[in-house]
Amino acid sequence: MLGNFTYCNQTAVHFGPDSMEALKSELDKYGKKVMLTYGGGSIKKNGIYDKVVKILKECGKEIFEDGGVMPNPTVEKLAEGCKIAKDNDVDLILAVGGGSTCDYAKAVSVSAYCEEDPWEKYFIRFEEPECKIIPVGCVLTMVGTGSEMNGGSVITNHAQKLKIGHVFGYKVFPKFSILNPEFTFTVPRYQMVSGIFDIMSHILEQYFSGDDVNTSDYISEGLLLSLIDSAEVAVKDPTNYEARSNIMWTATWALNTLIAKGKTTDWEVHMLGQAVAAHTDATHGMTLAAVSIPYYRHIMPYGLPKFKRYAINVWKVDPKGKTDEQVASEGLDKMKAWMEKIGLEMKISNFGVTKDMIEKIADSTLIMEGGYKVLTKSEIEEILKACL
Ligand code: NZQ
Ligand code: ZN
Repeated sequence: MLGNFTYCNQTAVHFGPDSMEALKSELDKYGKKVMLTYGGGSIKKNGIYDKVVKILKECGKEIFEDGGVMPNPTVEKLAEGCKIAKDNDVDLILAVGGGSTCDYAKAVSVSAYCEEDPWEKYFIRFEEPECKIIPVGCVLTMVGTGSEMNGGSVITNHAQKLKIGHVFGYKVFPKFSILNPEFTFTVPRYQMVSGIFDIMSHILEQYFSGDDVNTSDYISEGLLLSLIDSAEVAVKDPTNYEARSNIMWTATWALNTLIAKGKTTDWEVHMLGQAVAAHTDATHGMTLAAVSIPYYRHIMPYGLPKFKRYAINVWKVDPKGKTDEQVASEGLDKMKAWMEKIGLEMKISNFGVTKDMIEKIADSTLIMEGGYKVLTKSEIEEILKACL
């Protein structure tokens, strides 16, 4: 049953090999001063930086550079970006990069004119912005987060050992995003595979909650089938356009609010993964991969009908002559085998986590209430131990 909801997504997506052609008309909608935000330099190596700067110059824009956004962007970097944006009164933030760059651009957009400490206001108290919001546009170069068409922004505070995401409302969504699958061809295999699992996790976080029949879960199953097939192709042949384009579009729809409509959602895998990352700075999708199977095995008895459905509809488990538990468990076995096959990290010890860190990581793990089981702290510790 689908309850009440509003669906509205203001991000204009320009997709495909020629999508950069749309950048000019998008830029024409904004003033002269553009803050060009990017990461650690991959866009300079693969030529995307030159392409973007050429178009910005053709459009007569004044460019304010803000490079060096790190994976898992920090509060310190956020303060730096706010200063550049505010001191120069920029009209648009153009984020060229992956989820970290896009997330950071959104954080700067709501923080530059914020009169309070943005970390406290947005990432601890989860309040919405009341100040002027600088518009954001994205040129996506790495696929996974869905940041190109959502209000999510994840910031890390190393001093407090917290990595926290705020899902902002529609006002904070990027105004436009350029999605050229060919731009992702240079992403290193480790990052590509991590992004693929991030997509899978986004879908599962929304799927493994509730037992009613709704369109959102059927869409999720379709997205998963596309992702599983395309990932296997991309791992063997990273420049396969068909596979990379399917993965890119699946990532966008996995987390642009559509498949959460009319249903409850979980997000505990992300809370566990983010806590691991806060203590290790490990790659986002890999942290999710390393905690997923032990978490899902733990909650499976509480959400058995959905885990059975997942096994049959997504992993094609034959239910004949098997108990519901056997079918559900076989589905997770198949998921694990696929994860190993595409080269995901399956243990948090691979990021340097040791037994004596478990209690602190559990303290950094936020507890969600929408999944099949609201975890206790000792259950979190038990799951994390099983991930070592
Ligand atoms: O920094 P550069 O030099 O650009 O290199 C990046 C980075 O090292 C590299 N890369 C990106 N595009 C490339 C490329 N290398 C070669 N060729 C290209 N075309 O890839 C590395 C990872 O980039 P990053 O942006 O960190 O990856 P991702 O897109 O996975 O973003 C991760 C961040 O997004 C957050 C995560 O927590 C993490 O902080 N998330 C955001 C969400 C959202 N907005 O809704 C939801 C997600 O669950 C996630 O939490
Ligand atoms: Zn994620």
